[in-house]
This record gives sequence, structure tokens and C-alpha cells, in this order.
Amino acid sequence: MAELPDRNLALDLVRVTEAAALAAGRWMGRGEKNAADQAAVDAMRLILNTIEMDGVIVIGEGEKDEAPMLYNGERLGTGCPPQVDIAVDPIDGTSLTARGGSGALSVVALAPRGTMCAPGKLVYMNKIAVGPEAVGHIDIDAPVEANLQNIARAKRRDVNDLTVMILDRPRHADLIKEVRATGARIRLINDGDVAAAISAATEDTGIDALLGVGGSPEAVITACALKCLGGEIQCKYWPRDESERQYAAENNVDLNRVLCLDDLVNSDNVFFAATGITRGELLQGVKYFGGGAQTSSMVMRSKSGTIRHIEATHRVDKLMLFSPIKYD
Ligand code: FBP
Repeated sequence: MAELPDRNLALDLVRVTEAAALAAGRWMGRGEKNAADQAAVDAMRLILNTIEMDGVIVIGEGEKDEAPMLYNGERLGTGCPPQVDIAVDPIDGTSLTARGGSGALSVVALAPRGTMCAPGKLVYMNKIAVGPEAVGHIDIDAPVEANLQNIARAKRRDVNDLTVMILDRPRHADLIKEVRATGARIRLINDGDVAAAISAATEDTGIDALLGVGGSPEAVITACALKCLGGEIQCKYWPRDESERQYAAENNVDLNRVLCLDDLVNSDNVFFAATGITRGELLQGVKYFGGGAQTSSMVMRSKSGTIRHIEATHRVDKLMLFSPIKYD
């Protein structure tokens, strides 16, 4: 059935992530992660509020880290239709930004109201994410070796040709051993498993999968990106202690249940934008020059499958004549 082209909200979203990256980029390497996050949050909130939509934040941030928040339940936008759920990660990689490490992104996604999973107090999930070639060939309940063999077969490679990204955390000691035993290569990352999963679903990054435990909000955001890129993620909640197990029991959350793409975001009309804050393999970081800055973003919509890469030049000297956001 033919439809007239409608509005691609992702093109509005890129102004949000650009603003957050431009504001947060000033804090790169300054050792103040909360100040960087606050700058990104303030910029994001301001621009999100200009978008013609009736939005509610389902995936906010800061719950785990007590960081400045765009809080869950916060209403954003002009209040006009469409009604949407919003997922934000003003900085995925706040510590990276504070250290000047590579790969921090600003990320936002939208989907129709009621379609995004709200993980509540269960802030971690175990995850496996892959790109289009390996869709249908992963099973989070299967041993690591079986998954890597299946991914390699799907990609017509040997297991030792695969590269897996894993967050460098003590909790992953056994996982790292298991991956090493298969012969697959590993890229340990300090932070940023959203960018890692997007890399696994993007050609020519040299990354084939993301494995391991990371944030639950990041899992929902990753699902939004993978809907657009045609990849796959499977997750399971990863309670840290007895109180989180009890919280799950009280809220009828089945900790054995595998959450697939549609459980994380149940829509085929998802909008996603990300802008690099610090230099990464996926996106360039913000580059400042006298009176301005350049940003690098990816902008995607799942319904159409369109993926745009937007390199933008911003005139900070002009913006500062009228913008309340501190870009200079
Ligand atoms: P923030 O920058 O938003 O704190 O997230 C960074 C991150 O590395 C995520 O990409 C990842 O999902 C999560 O933190 C992992 O949590 P933890 O650092 O507690 O292991």
C-alpha cells in the first residue's frame, strides 16, 4: 500500500545530539564527568522541547550513577502529536569524556508511545548483539563457543577471524576466558557498549559481536539502533544482588526470560540519532576551530531503513548571539 512520505523525526533528533555533543565536548579531558553530563543533559532537554511531539522519557539516565538526569516520566516536546517514547543517553561514555578517551557518543531514540521496555531498577542486562549477517544465528542461553561458531559460519569465516567487543570489567573474567578459548579476538573497551553494538552491525568496522553485561537503558537504546541497522540483540536481566532479585519477583519480572529486539522496542517505526563527542571508530568527535566546531552524526529510521551520515559545521560565534546553550 502506497503512503505519502511522512516526517522523519530522526532529522529533528540529530539537532538534539549535535547540541549535546557540542556542549559536552568542551568538557573533554577535564576530569569532571558530572559537569560534562550536565552540559549534555541541559542541551538535550532544550532542543528536545522544541520538537513537535508529545514525548515521554522511558529510558532516562543517571539512575545507576546518580548523575544529572533527564528523568523517566519527564514530558518533552511541544505536546502536539505524535505521541512517542523517548530514550536518551546524553553521553554514552561519561568517564571516557572526562578522561578524553575515545568513543563517547550522545544518543537519542524515539518510538511510538508504549513501545519501549522500561527496565526500572534492574539496571544491568547480559547482552549479545550482532549485525545483519548473523541475525537468527545467536542464542544468549547457548555457550559462548556455540554462538561464536554460529556467527562465524553465518559470516563465512573462521572463529579466529572474529573480533568481539567486551566491556573491561572484573565481572567478565570468565567470559573473556571462554572467548579466548575459542580463538576469537577480543577488543576490551573501557565504556560505551552502545557504540560497540552499533559497530558490530556496521560494515567495515572489523567488529563482529558485542558480548557481556552492560546497562539496561543502553540495551533498549541499542535495540533502537539495531532495528534501524537490521541487526539483532538478545538480553537477560542481570541482578546484582538479592534486593534486585526481590525487586524482580515483586514486579513479576522473569529473570530467565530472553528479551529480544521486539521486547526491548516493539515497533518498526523507530528513529535514532547519535553524534560523536570524543574521537571514535564509528564517529569523529567534536572538533573545535576558531569560532566554530564540526560534528559527525548518524541518523536512522527503521521503517525506511535510511541511514544518513551528517557532517556538520557549527558557527559557535553566531550561536552564542542567541542560544542559551553554552557552546563556547
Ligand atoms: P555512561 O557513560 O552512561 O555511564 O555509560 C557507560 C557504559 O559503559 C555503558 O556503555 C554501559 O552499558 C555501562 O556503562 C556499563 O556499566 P558499568 O560501567 O557500571 O559497568
